Amino acid sequence: MTDPVLVTTREHLAAVRAALPGRVSVVMTMGALHDGHARLMDVARDQAEHVLVTIFVNPRQFGANEDLDRYPRTLDADLEVCKARGVDVVFAPGVEEVYPAEEQVPLVFAGELGDILEGAHRPGHFDGVVTVVSRLLDLTRPDVAVFGEKDAQQLAVIRQMVASQGRAVEVVGVPTVREPDGLAMSSRNRYLSGAERESALTISRALKAGVDQGSRGPRAVLEAARAALAAAPEVVLDYLVVVDAESWDRPSDRTTFGKILVAARVGSTRLIDNMEVRLASAPPVG
Ligand code: PAJ
Repeated sequence: MTDPVLVTTREHLAAVRAALPGRVSVVMTMGALHDGHARLMDVARDQAEHVLVTIFVNPRQFGANEDLDRYPRTLDADLEVCKARGVDVVFAPGVEEVYPAEEQVPLVFAGELGDILEGAHRPGHFDGVVTVVSRLLDLTRPDVAVFGEKDAQQLAVIRQMVASQGRAVEVVGVPTVREPDGLAMSSRNRYLSGAERESALTISRALKAGVDQGSRGPRAVLEAARAALAAAPEVVLDYLVVVDAESWDRPSDRTTFGKILVAARVGSTRLIDNMEVRLASAPPVG
């Protein structure tokens, strides 16, 4: 495998991008790459001739009391992951390249979907996400952009932004990649101590317990998930909800596919996870 071309400036990116023939797909990341990111790169490869990965810890999507300063930065290891996946170009800019002082990069608003759940707990977070995604789409000009369903609300907010801005890019979602025991892979898992990791496992177990109750309706789903979480009081919930997978509203009688979404803190680490759940829907009459 040849090394990916490492690019750190907008100018260099523009030149390298212009020289890529055929379709290009992009995988945007904040680094500290794991097998979930690697799966996105594989999907990106299937979609296009060339794969471009961005690595940028975006300050605009972190709140004042969040983990921006301690967010893991592991560029050398990240480049090895990209190389192993045959990534063509890695764009790893500094903050001033993405948000140059001389150029006001306007904040993009995520809309109503950006205000609930994660957005309610992290005010402004999704505005920061769609701002950087929008910016990186402008700089990388991909045909395809690949995102993980692990961050389901982020994916939905990005899809809305792409549609409302009338962008030609195709957005592709990739199912969550999990550890063999079920824990959703996350760059933040490396904050967890051994005991905390054990506790964190309860989150995916609770989602699975909920999924298993889907045929009994959303209330039973939530009860089963809550009961599983009660076994680990050290897992402190921010929210645990079931929504209609299409509308993100409460499930109605006609909802067939729902999503169970959870955010919880284990020690000082905040984790999110979700699973799709097939709900009982009223059978057609006659
Ligand atoms: P980051 O958390 O690094 O995630 C980058 C991409 O990898 C996102 O699309 C995320 O959903 C996906 N991903 C993370 N863990 C995954 C897993 N276990 N399985 C499948 N996909 C997974 O999400 C961000 O960065 C940022 O918000 C970003 C979109 C880059 C904007 O700054």
